[in-house]
This record gives sequence, C-alpha cells and structure tokens, in this order.
Amino acid sequence: MCGIIAYIGKHRAAPIIVEGLKRLEYRGYDSAGLAAQQNGRLVVIKKAGRVDRLAQEEAEHPLSATSGIGHTRWATHGAVTDANAHPHLSSDGKFALIHNGVIENYAQMKTFLLGKGFTFKSETDTEVLCNLIAYHYAKEDAAAGPSVRFLESVRKTLRHVEGTYGIAALCVEAPNEIVAARKASPLILGVGEAEYLIASDASALVGRTQNVVYLKDGEIVHLTPKAFTITTLDQADVSPVMDRITWSVADAELGTYEHFMEKEIFEQPLALENSMRGRFSEDGSTAQFGGLNLTAGDFAQVDRFMFCACGSAWHACLVAEHLIERFARLPVEVDYASEFRYRNSPLGRSTLFFVMSQSGETIDTLAALREAKRKGYRVLAINNSVGSTIARESDGGIFQHVGPEIGVASTKAFTSQLMIGAMVALYVARMRDMSFADGVQYVNALKGAPDLVRRVLAQAPHIRDIARRYAASSDFLFLGRLSLFPIALEGALKLKEISYIHAEGYPAAEMKHGPIALISEKCPSVVLAPKGELFNKIVSSIQELKARKGPIIAVTTEGSEIPAGLADAVISIPDCHEAVLPIVAAIPVQLLSYYIAVERGCDVDKPRNLAKSVTVE
Ligand code: G6P
Repeated sequence: MCGIIAYIGKHRAAPIIVEGLKRLEYRGYDSAGLAAQQNGRLVVIKKAGRVDRLAQEEAEHPLSATSGIGHTRWATHGAVTDANAHPHLSSDGKFALIHNGVIENYAQMKTFLLGKGFTFKSETDTEVLCNLIAYHYAKEDAAAGPSVRFLESVRKTLRHVEGTYGIAALCVEAPNEIVAARKASPLILGVGEAEYLIASDASALVGRTQNVVYLKDGEIVHLTPKAFTITTLDQADVSPVMDRITWSVADAELGTYEHFMEKEIFEQPLALENSMRGRFSEDGSTAQFGGLNLTAGDFAQVDRFMFCACGSAWHACLVAEHLIERFARLPVEVDYASEFRYRNSPLGRSTLFFVMSQSGETIDTLAALREAKRKGYRVLAINNSVGSTIARESDGGIFQHVGPEIGVASTKAFTSQLMIGAMVALYVARMRDMSFADGVQYVNALKGAPDLVRRVLAQAPHIRDIARRYAASSDFLFLGRLSLFPIALEGALKLKEISYIHAEGYPAAEMKHGPIALISEKCPSVVLAPKGELFNKIVSSIQELKARKGPIIAVTTEGSEIPAGLADAVISIPDCHEAVLPIVAAIPVQLLSYYIAVERGCDVDKPRNLAKSVTVE
C-alpha cells in the first residue's frame, strides 16, 4: 500500500527521499510528500498526484536538512487531496509523521484530542496519531530532554493504538533524529556508510545499502546520524539481526523496457530457472526443498492441504490444487485469505497449511497464517520476499527467488508460484504413488519449461497485433478447463487490472450458465484450448460462442486443429507436460493484457486504484 522512506546521515535528505519514493511508487501513487527541518521548523511539501510533481516542487524550494521523511500514498482514510497526503504535522507544528496502515480506534482518539484543543487539517487517521504524539510529548518530563521525550511519546502513543502501522516521525525539538515503528505493516532499517534509512520496502534501499535489519511487530527504532537503538513498546532492548539484500539496483530498474510489467514478463524464463535452482533430487526424480522444516515422516501424516492467498497468488493456488490432487491424490482446499480468516472452517488435525504471497506482506494472507497458527497448525509459506512478515512468521516454506516484482500486475511472481506449486505436487506425489520413471519425466518437463516460455515470448509481435484488433472492446471472456480454468481467471484479472476492460474468467463449459448472455460481436472470448481429452468439448464451447457472433481468440497447442473459420485469431503454445501447461498458457494471456493496456494508453505499471502490496484489510 503506502510507501515509507526516511533518511538520516551526512547528505541532503530530500533528493535521497525523492529517489526512494520513486522506487516505492508502485506501492501507492495517489499522492506523495516529504518533511524535513528547515530554519528551526518542520517544513512539509506534499502533493496529490505522482512523485514527479513532488520532485519538481522540492527542486524549486530545496530543503538543506540531512534528515527527513517521505511517503507515497494509497488512500484509505480520506480522498486524494494535498491535505490528506502525508507527512502530517501535529497542530502545534512540533511533529511530522508518515504512516502506512489503518488506525482503527482513530475516531475515539480524535474526539479526545479535539476536547484538548487539538485541531485537524485532514480526514486521516495519521494526523490523529501525530497529534497524540504531541499530546504525550507535552506531558513528558522536560528534564528528560527532547530526545528521550520524543521516543517515549511515540511509545506511549503506540500503546493506545488498535490497528496497523509502519510509521516514521520527526520532532522539531530533536532536530537530527527519527523515530520509526511497526505493527503489521512492513518496515526495514537500512544501515549505510554513516547513514541510516527506514523504508517499507527493500527496493527503496538498494541504491544506498544492502545491509538491513527487518524490524518486527512492536519494535521502535530511534535514529541519530551516528547510531540506532531498537526497543519494544514495553521498553525492552532488542539486539538487531543484520541481513543482506541479495538483489541489486538493476533488478529494480527498467533498463531498456518501457514498463516493469513488460520487463517482468520477459524475465520469466530466468525467473523460472531461479525458482527451480538446486531443488531437484540427485536422481532427478523428485523435488527437494531446504526450508520446509518438515521431515518426510511429517509429510506422510498429512492427508489434506489447505492453501490461502489473495489475487494472482490465489489463482496459483488453484493450479496447485489441481496438480496435487491429480498427481499426489491428496485432497486440497483453496480459500481466499480474507474469507478464511473469518470463516472458522474445520481443518482436521492432519491438514498441512500453506499460504502463498509474493510480497509476504499482504495483510489478509498474514492474518490467515496467524489464524491457522493460533489453531495449532504448522504453516508453510510460498513467498518471494526474504525477511517479509509472512516469511518470518511461517514455520517454513519455499522462497520463489525471482527478484523484486515492481509492476503492480503480477507476472513473473505468478508463474514462479505455478512452478513451485508443480514442484510441491511432484514432491508429495513421489512420496506416495508416483513411479520413479514418471518422476523423472515430470522433472525433465519442469526443467524444460523456461525454453517453452521463451518460445511463447517469441510470439509477442503476433500477440501485439491481436491485441490491437480487440483493444477497443468493452467486455472480454476468458475460458479454460481443469488446470487452465485458473489461468482464465488470471487472464481476466490481468486485463481488468491494467486496461479497465470488464473481463470474466469462467470454466469453458460453465459459460453456458450465464456469461453466454454477454456474447455479441463486441465481446471477444479468449479460449484456452490445449490438445488433450477435453479438446473437442472446448471446440464445442467455441462453436456455441461463434454461433452468437462472438469473436474468438484461441490459445491452442501447436498442431491442434481448431476447425477452419472458428477462431478469429490463434496463438500457439508448445505441446508440454500437464504440470507445465499452466505456466506456458499464462504467457499469452499476460502479453495480450499488456499490449491491450498499452494500446489503450493505460498506465500499465500503476493502474488506477490498485497497489502492489495490500497491507490494509
Ligand atoms: C495485489 C497485487 C496482485 C497480487 C495480490 C496478492 O492485489 O496487485 O498482483 O497477486 O496483491 O499479493 P501477494 O504479495 O500476497 O502475492
């Protein structure tokens, strides 16, 4: 959701903050702002709109301070206006605050503060928090000095908070200090050369340092240019654990591509290789994972899998369900994390619980993990973000290793989740009924997936032509069966996310029970029609659509014959193993959505109303 950055060191803070905000913009892009101390007072520059507007404003009125805080917003409380943008100042002007999260009891706090004479300029929960810090600061013993009073007033404020937060604050009376804290919203401390940074996301730090401390819930960090201390809300000291970010600046930059989504689509062969690296047994017949923290004996006890996730990751879970049930013959249930956490579903003692989350910070997925753990289940995470909250709180899991994904619409993280789901299916299947020979064949098929993906990517110009023909449509259907039904869902999600075209994903045969009513020459259908036992049935579905004048974009296996005249456009995918098919079939729907959005002039990497990582409920 929102992006947070703070800097303290020897250099001018504002340009470093602006640079960090540009890297964080994918987390939220309604408005942006920064605050720093200038001539003995806290100065805030903030604007509705993109970070570029803020950069321009700062360049016209440069701030010389060597510490400051910055924020890029995804609106929760209050509309997208300059006033609601962060940072917020306390009404006495002594504190500036940036915040990612939602303060649930802000209304009671606001009533209390209004009664004490505090005033408010915005509708945000953050401004309430900022004034509460000012309230506590005024009550602290002046003899303790501004530094201690600053830290303690933040600590006291946070003890009253219900909800989630990642915050960073400045205090006018402690001019070269920053206090930051987190609960459920991510926050990382970057430790540089005689400088420190705070960020909600590692991508904001990589330009300056690779050394980080991942802060935990309930921790407060107090920074000066020379040192930092971490304590808890209960004033206990915390010994920092240093980590290193393994990816580089280039991973988080566009290079020669026009959009991050395009870059990430074309990175998929490499991403898949990285997700597989070192994860096949020496005999080449099964998968192996270093971080599951479960023995083969533990697995043998499992008689059911439960997967929870949101968005594209949920679609990847549906594919995993298909493959685990098909190859390992174990029942699998998949739930939206946001539903699971309130559903109180009976799980059964021998259920193994998985969450899947690229970012490792999606709040609903995290809440599902916590709910499952609270009920005594072991939870494994499939996750792309080392150091993320989900990675830390799970009992074990599998990292995706695909580097940062910046485009809001997930692509390389999604296919990597498909790959890991396929590997989990293999791993469990080989513990049960799958033969050595079938295992070897499965492994070889997975190893060949990156090359097959390259072959589909080579058709990008052809897919772009198709996209141009249909970009003006206002409705789309995406149809698929079995393991490609979730890919149809994913295609529809991609298209609506980035091009704002209404799209629905459906099991091809189910289309007759409603969606067919939408069909006309203005509503194209993307039909995933690979060769196989259901090919003829899918062709029948195409006939039904065609009879109602619906244009057909067919994605089919090379050499499969869609009867002449039935499809208006054909995209071929290579013949492949069932475990690889969803990965290969995902590429055309990604490219189609991408090129349609480009054709319509949409802001592909920052689609309206969306954010990369949804850290509020
Ligand atoms: C957001 C993103 C999606 C992503 C979903 C889940 O909605 O726009 O691309 O699939 O969150 O994210 P996660 O980080 O948990 O995989």
